[in-house]
Amino acid sequence: MLDTLAKLSNNKLIDKFGRQVTYVRISVTDRCDFRCVYCMSEDMEFLPREQVLTLEEITRLSQAFVEMGVTKIRITGGEPLVRKGVVEMLAKISKLEGLEELVITTNGSQLVKLAEPLKQAGVKRINISLDSLDAEKFKKVTRVGDLNVVLDGIQAAKKAGFENIKLNAVILKNRNHDEVRNLVQYAMDQGLDISFIEEMPLGAIDSHSREEAYYSSDEIKRDLEQQFELLSSTKKTGGPARYYNVNGYNNKVGFISPHSHNFCDTCNRVRVTASGLLLLCLGQEHSMDLKRVLRANPIDLNKVKQALIDSMAIKPKGHDFDLTEQPVIFRHMSVTGG
Ligand code: GTP
Ligand code: 5AD
Ligand code: SF4
Repeated sequence: MLDTLAKLSNNKLIDKFGRQVTYVRISVTDRCDFRCVYCMSEDMEFLPREQVLTLEEITRLSQAFVEMGVTKIRITGGEPLVRKGVVEMLAKISKLEGLEELVITTNGSQLVKLAEPLKQAGVKRINISLDSLDAEKFKKVTRVGDLNVVLDGIQAAKKAGFENIKLNAVILKNRNHDEVRNLVQYAMDQGLDISFIEEMPLGAIDSHSREEAYYSSDEIKRDLEQQFELLSSTKKTGGPARYYNVNGYNNKVGFISPHSHNFCDTCNRVRVTASGLLLLCLGQEHSMDLKRVLRANPIDLNKVKQALIDSMAIKPKGHDFDLTEQPVIFRHMSVTGG
């Protein structure tokens, strides 16, 4: 007990491998207006409302994290912007003393309406998923998404003046691997960064074999080098991407390579699902039920902080994704928030 109290006053979340957690990704909903093939199956069941953390609970939890040394919070989903009241909640979180960056990951479908309010609410950076520039292919990957709505959303985000806008593209062989150069050209022309992500085997999906669709970051890099000169960059965002400068342009290309270039040894992050489950690793099941702690202690934030400290003991060393097997992790990415 004395030991944990001493740690509480130390104000830091440090796991047993000496890694400090400074980045938290919070999913505010498992719902989404898209159905991306790598993320969801066609018929998804969503959580009943009472199982989802309220916006007040998410705000309190954010405060606990920030008081424990977290400097970056990323709000994710599902699609975070389909949750009612999310902008007002962001405005509260962005005022937490000690928080350096409040950022968001979105599919871009609501940005025409919400880019400016998000900027006003104090969101610093924004990451937008964009897997294809071909309207038909875009529809196939997202099952329901409209490319033009997202492209308009990107323009709205540029106009709102975020510090940095990054595109995220999950690349699948024979679906969009032939688009990587076009995507980079678009990003560079628009003054945006872009990251390419290797697909991760999270949740059962019915559209493709993940093993056959694997297209590695090295293959993407090789394709890009036919058109662009990539120069290794020291840029760090606190996220998992390795960045390259593109000669002749001001923006960067990043690679998020959970299979080919594991980054777990520098992991600085944890996640909270929409139902308030703290996940200590994206690729493992180690978790703690924060909803229970939050609801049992509606006033005392120290109990929540104590739970966060206790959770550090079970943060695993890393993930061991295997594309050749049925997923070992049954949660879909829409539950985890990426
Ligand atoms: P920046 O702050 O811009 O660096 O963003 P980010 O890359 O941390 O966040 P984003 O929401 O854009 O995530 C991009 C991809 O990286 C998503 O597919 C995430 O699932 C993946 N990712 C983020 N953190 C981890 C991690 O700890 N492990 C694994 N395997 N993937 C991660
Ligand atoms: N593997 C890799 N990335 C994924 N995303 C969603 N599902 C997967 C998956 N199975 C990406 C989205 C978004 C980010 C938060 O996670 O495209 O950019
Ligand atoms: Fe929705 Fe994002 Fe999942 Fe696509 S990847 S279905 S946009 S949560």
